[in-house]
Amino acid sequence: MRMYDLIRKKRDGETLTKEEIEFIIRGYTDESIPDYQMAALAMAIYFRGMDPRETADLTLAMAASGDMVNLSAVEGVKVDKHSTGGVGDTTTLVLAPLVAAAGVPVAKMSGRGLGHTGGTIDKLESIPGFSVELTEEQFVNHVNMIKIALIGQTGDIAPADKKLYALRDVTATVDTIPLIASSIMSKKLAAGADAIVLDVKTGEGAFMKTQEGSFSLAKAMVDIGNQLGRKTVAVISDMNQPLGYAVGNALEVKEAIETLKGAGPADLEELCLELGSQMLILAGKTPTADEAKNLLKELIHAGAGLETFKRFVEAQGGDPTVIDNPDLLPKAQMQVSFLAEEDGFVSYIDAEKVGTSAMMLGAGRERKDSVIDLAVGIVLNKKVGDPVKKGEALAVLHVNNQSRLEEVKALLREAFEISPTPVPKPLLVCGIVT
Ligand code: URA
Ligand code: CA
Repeated sequence: MRMYDLIRKKRDGETLTKEEIEFIIRGYTDESIPDYQMAALAMAIYFRGMDPRETADLTLAMAASGDMVNLSAVEGVKVDKHSTGGVGDTTTLVLAPLVAAAGVPVAKMSGRGLGHTGGTIDKLESIPGFSVELTEEQFVNHVNMIKIALIGQTGDIAPADKKLYALRDVTATVDTIPLIASSIMSKKLAAGADAIVLDVKTGEGAFMKTQEGSFSLAKAMVDIGNQLGRKTVAVISDMNQPLGYAVGNALEVKEAIETLKGAGPADLEELCLELGSQMLILAGKTPTADEAKNLLKELIHAGAGLETFKRFVEAQGGDPTVIDNPDLLPKAQMQVSFLAEEDGFVSYIDAEKVGTSAMMLGAGRERKDSVIDLAVGIVLNKKVGDPVKKGEALAVLHVNNQSRLEEVKALLREAFEISPTPVPKPLLVCGIVT
């Protein structure tokens, strides 16, 4: 087989066989196929697409290019959740303990990575003492005993995807559905999930700006999962403003604790109930979404999600008193109000700009080696639809280093739009793809 012939085949709009796709991914991983040929193939896929069978074969080949995590020692159906990337997306911190409290095992492997805030690991590390350094044996034991454990990414998960994603990033071939869908699903597969719930964000703050694009991406990923024997469901959720109020590491942990107490932001709770109910259904705990939601609400009301969170934190070396007293979390030195300059109704909050503002305050990594300030970030006071008066705070900035404060304020001024006339609250859950 020659890579040249396969590039030409895709260029001419033909479909690649499973063996051809395996040849490409094997060769790209062992470097017998150079970047320039892979780049040409990615561009051919961009224009010609891939059918569902090709996309599933590509996913499996990339998943198999490195270590495949074996979670068979964990009892029960392991349901993983993945978000296509939101701003201030605190759902994992709420969902993981809540679903675990319902008896569904959560065996989570997370990375750190780049972003507006840290990843789930960074957020949890704002709890004094919390550590993700568990041995594999401890990890499995914790999940079997308390139904939840979180470990840092070990081994080499889907190295072919890592290489290809970086190549796509510099060759204008990221935004094509078969490549996005196979990229995301290959990592979920390699991480050992039996079933997968996807939170596909839609809107200006998301990867997919239109509902049509988001539904197509969701369908492509659900198709892959189902073809590869992993039951997969996607929830399409709005990202035309940040989720919840808090954007920042310790700030989001605090928000998650409030949500587990039943006193969190309405939109965050709604999305957690929606995603959590799909996880319970896939795990075989409840037959319908309504029953699942009722169960999850009861668990919040009874404090069971919070109790599981506490046990989880303690099992991983963290100080569990933080959960009763979130003021023990790292705190920024200064709180600066960001004020409205006119009366009206909030009509839009650019999630991307709020995220970038939080990152500029130090909440996220701009480069791989950046050090995160776990205390800083942004807490919104107003969301889309809320009335606001001139001089009222739209948000509060939690600041340690003032050097970029003016720049941040200028960006936030661009992020908020105020309308003179009332604005309806946006619909959060736009649909479910099964
Ligand atoms: N996230 C991924 O992991 N891969 C993509 O291709 C796009 C988003
Ligand atoms: Ca949030």
